[in-house]
Parts: sequence; C-alpha cells; structure tokens
Amino acid sequence: MSKNQNLSPLFNLFWENTNLNDKNILGFVDGFVNEEKNIEQIKYPTKDLELDYPKDKLYKIMKNRQSNRQYNNYQINKKQLSSLFSCFAQVDNHRLLSSAGGKYPIEVYALCFNVNKFNNKIVYYNYEDNSLSIVGSCSNWDDIKSITGAGDVITGEPSIMFIFVGFPNRVVSKYGERGGRFLLIESGHYIQNLLLRVSYEKMRAVELGGLFDNDIKNILGLENSDAIITLGVICGK
Ligand SMILES: Cc1cc2nc3c(=O)[nH]c(=O)nc-3n(C[C@H](O)[C@H](O)[C@H](O)COP(=O)(O)O)c2cc1C
Repeated sequence: MSKNQNLSPLFNLFWENTNLNDKNILGFVDGFVNEEKNIEQIKYPTKDLELDYPKDKLYKIMKNRQSNRQYNNYQINKKQLSSLFSCFAQVDNHRLLSSAGGKYPIEVYALCFNVNKFNNKIVYYNYEDNSLSIVGSCSNWDDIKSITGAGDVITGEPSIMFIFVGFPNRVVSKYGERGGRFLLIESGHYIQNLLLRVSYEKMRAVELGGLFDNDIKNILGLENSDAIITLGVICGK
C-alpha cells in the first residue's frame, strides 16, 4: 500500500480534479440544474434484425435490477452477507472478475450499519479465503451520510455500504496512464456483479458517486496509502 510513486501523473491530476469534499460539493450539485434531460439517441436508417429477450433466470435478475433510495434499517444475516461478498471471490484459484493483466487493483471494504453482530464495524473482504476482517469502527449511517454526497436523497438506514477502493500503482506500473482507465472500468465490474446479486436476493441498492474521497479514505484507515475511493454502493431492504 505504498504512497503514490507518480507513475501516472495525468491520471493523478484527473483524480485530484474530480475530488469531492464538503467545500466543493455545492458546486458539483449546482451543475445538475442545467442538466440535459434528453439523451440523444443514435438512429441508423435500417433495422435489419429484430432480437428476442431471453426467458431465463439471469435475464430476470438483470431486468429487476434498479436503484433504490428508501431503506428500512433491515438487519442482514450471514447468509445474505455471504451472498453479497461472493461477488468478489476467488474460487478454485480463479477470481469471479476479470482484470487487466490480472493486476486486480480493486479491493472491497464495507461499513456495516445493520449487519448481525457486525454493527458499526468496518470490514475488508479477503478474496482468497472468502472471509471478512474487521479493520475498524464506524458511526451509524445517519452520521456518515453527510460524506456520501447522498444524504438528502436516501431515506431510512441501509444495512451496509460497500466501498470499492482502487490501488492505482498495481496497474499503472504495467500500463502507465491507461492503467487508470482500466482501474475505473474494473470497479464497474465489481459493482455490476454486486447489483445483480442484490437483485437476486430481492434486496435494494444504489450506487453513490458523490463520496467525499478523503473523508472516506480516512475512515477506512487508508490515508497513508495510494488508495483511491472509486464508488460506494449502499444495500439493504
Ligand atoms: C457511476 C454512478 C454513480 C451514481 N451515483 C449516484 C448517487 O450518488 N446518488 C444516487 O441517488 N444515485 C446514483 N446513481 C444511480 C443512478 O442515478 C441510476 O443508476 C440511474 O438513474 C438509472 O436508474 P436505475 O439504476 O434505477 O436503472 C449512480 C449510478 C452510477 C452508474
């Protein structure tokens, strides 16, 4: 977890320029006011093949995925917790996720708000043996939500907040600046795996793109590392 060795100065600069905190969050949100609602659709003159939707279970799970912002303080149990974390596992020496050059720059942490026997614990997921390590303590959701950029739109308490932490040096040491791109893409893989599991479990989730980077990094105890906070996902019922 070495400090950034500046192997990718432009990615680092981009990262700094997209940092959110309590000072610049209002400017970020202000930008939403002039939001263009209509997404320009690409349209070619001919449609040459009408496709069918699959009728299988995987398709149903994908179809039922949606963002939810209302939670009811539901306590998740070990079975559900195991199901959610299984998205990031290594089974038979093989990860359930692809990674550029097998560098796996993403690590998964979570803040437990309503998790049986783990309330107010911060956990790290050990993918090799599918276990959780308690790495610290956290406050309740109500005290944390102000640094998630989503405090106003979420009602009730989620059970858990996953945090996808990137370690750029692992990947930029091989790919240079383009490694930063790969890291962000890979974070999306982890999140999509999780969202589909949430859908399968008939639970609720939403991605949180407005996390205050440094505050979250400090909570995780990663302030002296090159870790970057890519995104959060809250889950519950
Ligand atoms: C990168 C990313 C960041 C997001 N950040 C937030 C967020 O901070 N707060 C929020 O309420 N929703 C957030 N969302 C959820 C989107 O608003 C949501 O996916 C979109 O409106 C489509 O709705 P659906 O997920 O229900 O299909 C985020 C989604 C993505 C992909």
